[in-house]
Amino acid sequence: MASGDQIPLLAAALLCALLAADSAVVERTFHVGNLTVSPLCERRVITAVNGKLPGPTIRAREGDTLLVLVVNHSPYGITIHWHGVFQKQSGWADGPSMITQCPIRPGGSYAYRFNVSGQEGTLWWHAHASFLRATVHGALIIRPRNRSFPFRTPHRQVPILLGEWWNADVVDLEKQAFLTGGGIVNVSDAFTINGKPGELYPRCKNHTYKLEVVSGETYLLRIINSALHSQLFFKIAGHSFTVVAVDASYTKPYDTDVVVIAAGQTVDALMVANAPSSRYYMAARPYFSSAGGPPSFDNTTATAIVRYADADDDAPPWMPRMPALNDTPTAHRFYTNLTGLRRPGAPAVPLEVEEHMFVTVGLGVLACEPTQVVCNRSRGTLGASMNNVSFRFPTAMSLLEAHFRGFHAEYQSDFPDRPPAMFDFTNNSLNTDPRLAPLLRTQRGTKVKRLKYNATVEMVLQNTAFIGAENHPLHLHGFNFFVLAQGFGNYNATTARSGFNLVDPQVRNTIGVPAGGWAVIRFVADNPGVWIMHCHLEQHVPLGLATVFVVENGTTPDSVLPPPPPDFPAC
Ligand code: C2O
Repeated sequence: MASGDQIPLLAAALLCALLAADSAVVERTFHVGNLTVSPLCERRVITAVNGKLPGPTIRAREGDTLLVLVVNHSPYGITIHWHGVFQKQSGWADGPSMITQCPIRPGGSYAYRFNVSGQEGTLWWHAHASFLRATVHGALIIRPRNRSFPFRTPHRQVPILLGEWWNADVVDLEKQAFLTGGGIVNVSDAFTINGKPGELYPRCKNHTYKLEVVSGETYLLRIINSALHSQLFFKIAGHSFTVVAVDASYTKPYDTDVVVIAAGQTVDALMVANAPSSRYYMAARPYFSSAGGPPSFDNTTATAIVRYADADDDAPPWMPRMPALNDTPTAHRFYTNLTGLRRPGAPAVPLEVEEHMFVTVGLGVLACEPTQVVCNRSRGTLGASMNNVSFRFPTAMSLLEAHFRGFHAEYQSDFPDRPPAMFDFTNNSLNTDPRLAPLLRTQRGTKVKRLKYNATVEMVLQNTAFIGAENHPLHLHGFNFFVLAQGFGNYNATTARSGFNLVDPQVRNTIGVPAGGWAVIRFVADNPGVWIMHCHLEQHVPLGLATVFVVENGTTPDSVLPPPPPDFPAC
């Protein structure tokens, strides 16, 4: 029989067991393989996970451990990235090809193991090799551990994955752009909502996603832009939204009738079914920010149907009035009006900065590669860069492995903190100014920026107008960052600093750097490992619009990168 003072001990042990049982291991198997689909009424074989497009939704709770075994039945080398997951102590599971791992070979497998501590909201997973994420992607939803949201509990939660579809094979698409297309990728054939293009494209069986709603109920739409190359406007006729989170970071409630979402970003929006019983289109179409850039883009519109229980199915659904394709004021209003929701225990904006970086972001011209079949040797080929370094992916070993094993020959640690020259970055005439020609010509390199553990980094991201100014959604792996300010023209520290939001800035993992403008972000390098930062317009990645942070180990056991897992894929 338990004596008097054993009872509290037993109770404590029981409580511990309950708490431990509370954080679960969520196990999944992803079979990557062929799937036949026909979104535009013609049959196509794509690469997909578990025979689904979009792939399976993973649901977890804050603090859970995820264990996803990826089995590659496809003919391509594949990796999966868990977009927005910090990967603390699990950098080997981050996924970008040749940055944190070599691809899983056809016939191979790899178990991604990581936790989602301190994170909740809508994230997603996608392939991070070639253009495969066009069809290899899905939602990753992290619910609060205690089941309570910092807003009214919705009746239902609905993942809305916005996608971009090509009739062509997407791996061929990338090869063709590089070998013969001068770096330019053919435009897509459709946009999709949960894998379906909707009624404004050729109509065939099962081509429209439908959301049945009940009058008076509240829906949490977990919107993910998984399109390869497009920022999107998203609306639902007759309804408005309250945005409550972006990139799995809560925001102050923000009321709007339009959501603007860059490739890679997520938006959690509440929608109340408070319209007259009927059918309403939800619609997604591009926000095309480019001035003087690539001449053509996919200007089509994806639709889905929101249907009230007793709606008349013979009447055509209501269509929302969409913003103009180049409506930068609407995009900028949405992107800049969001503020973060400050919650107890959440990190505050660091006020002391150790690493000040000023980084230009944009297109440029590269020397032809010997493998390019069609390339004008004197004019060069389309490229992209950050601070005039066009990132070249290593080929022999991933950077994380090279860093871990001390193979420093794989990369150089001299990614510059500033561009080679300061000039009028956003002036379109810089394309014709012969004095700037050397800056238009960027250099390839595998250059990384080394950071001490826990260093605070401020990056001014300055868009350039080389070739064409365009909003580049820059995504940072391994961290969230605070967005302190955004604006147009050349960044001016004196005027910009007074406008920094140091109180309640939005927290993101992907920032659309305004076309012909700039953005300022801050983050704390509290995550040892190797982290890529890149444009989430996929076509800009092989052009070189990327850089890498190498964060050194700290001095405590939980600030040291552990060794790779036993099944880590070899090159
Ligand atoms: Cu969602 Cu490195 O990507």
